[in-house]
Order: sequence, then C-alpha cells, then structure tokens
Amino acid sequence: MKVIISNNPIELGISAGKAAAELIKTTIANKGQANIILATGSSQFETLKQLITEKDIDWSKVVMFHLDEYIGLPESSGASFRKYLKERFLSKVSPLKAVYLVDGETDPVKECNRLGMIIEANPIDVALVGIGENGHLAFNDPPADFDTTEPYIIVDLDEACRKQQFNEGWFKSVEDVPKRAISMSIKQICKSKHIICSVPDIRKAQAVKDCLEQPVSNLFPASILQLHPDCSYYLDKYSAEFLSADLTQKSN
Ligand code: GLP
Repeated sequence: MKVIISNNPIELGISAGKAAAELIKTTIANKGQANIILATGSSQFETLKQLITEKDIDWSKVVMFHLDEYIGLPESSGASFRKYLKERFLSKVSPLKAVYLVDGETDPVKECNRLGMIIEANPIDVALVGIGENGHLAFNDPPADFDTTEPYIIVDLDEACRKQQFNEGWFKSVEDVPKRAISMSIKQICKSKHIICSVPDIRKAQAVKDCLEQPVSNLFPASILQLHPDCSYYLDKYSAEFLSADLTQKSN
C-alpha cells in the first residue's frame, strides 16, 4: 500500500496522472500493449486532465475498459459516464487501439456478458479508480459482492450513492438518479496489475479512513484494495484528514 498525500486536488491529479502515464508507458514498452480501466466521477477530473497531457504515450497501443455506467440513462444526459469519458478523455487523445464503453441503454444482462468475455481475454495492466462517499468501488455499494467472479454485474445503487450524485450536480433531483447500474465487479477490479486510486475532497475523509484503516469488509467496499499487491492511493490533505499518522507515512 502506498499513500501519496497532495496539498490539493490539482496536485493530486498531477501525481496520479503522471504515475498512470508511467505505468502505461512501461507496460507498452514491455508488452507492446497496455490494457487500462478508466473510472469517472468527480474524483477523476484532475487525474484524467493530467493523463491527457502526457505526450509520449502511444495511445494506439492502449485498450480501454470502462468501470461503470447507469442503466437506462441516455448518453445525451450530462450524467452519462460514456459522455464523460468521450468529452474528458477520448476526444483529447489520439485514437486508442480499442475502447469498450459500458452501454447502459441496451439489455444489461447481455451487456455484462459481452463486456465480460472481452475483458477476460484482456488482462488489465492499469486501473484508475476512485472511492465514493459511501466507500464504494466502482458502483459496488455496501454491502458489496466480494465473491462474484462475473467481470461485470448489475447493481442497485444505495441512497448515499444516489444522494452523492445529486449533490454533485449531475442530476436535478435524487429521484432522477437511476436506481441500477452496470458495474465492474470487485474481483475483476482487483485482478488489475496496478491500481491508482484517486480520492480528493473532505467529503471522502471518513470513507478513506474506513477503507484504509478498518479491517477488510464488504461494508467498506474499497477496503478490499488493502489486499492488492500494488495499489497506490492518491489523496489530498482534505480526504486524508482523518487518517492516522502512521498510515500517512506508510509506503510498502
Ligand atoms: C463513481 C463512479 C466510479 C468512481 C467512483 C468513485 O460514482 N461511477 O467510476 O470510481 O464512483 O468516484 P466519485 O466519488 O468521484 O464518483
């Protein structure tokens, strides 16, 4: 576990984005291709902003998977994560080798199966993820399914998650936030060779403390990352506010 604490979200994004770029470049140099997962949400704003400025990544050797998407939300909605990734990432870099977005407007069971087969054939090198206010990893809200081996699953969104999305301004009311989503599963995320977890903001301070310091539990879904051999947490001083002193120096 490596914990990097920056002064603010912008510095966090620079560190996390640069670290992701290095891992992608090294993977391409070693294997000729890098398979990555991108998350969305406010936690990824600055990290992606940095990643798209990285000049010497050969994007034609990168295959991108998408972490999660609401079921039934049209791509024209301002809250669509496909729209988010197209606007904030895909339109800003040269064409990738392949892009596998989650289509939340088609039959979700078939979509999970379709994406599941593709990702099983493409082991992930670098995953960029965040942690929600309720401790969720992707859209795996507590109590998260730590056992399923399906790569993509259909999940119900809990009240805290839906409130977060509303409070961040993605929707006009809590009722407008979809109740279901397609999410990459916990086991699939954890198969990634390297994980970069970007978590800015005081709103996340309690979730960060719970997920990094409490015993691993599906009540704190992102706590599973404690068991990952190469997960780096990029925090700012606000999200790290409740962490105990020894963890803020921990790097192993
Ligand atoms: C979100 C997104 C995920 C993200 C996670 C935490 O709701 N669907 O892709 O990794 O949950 O991020 P944030 O709190 O910024 O939304």
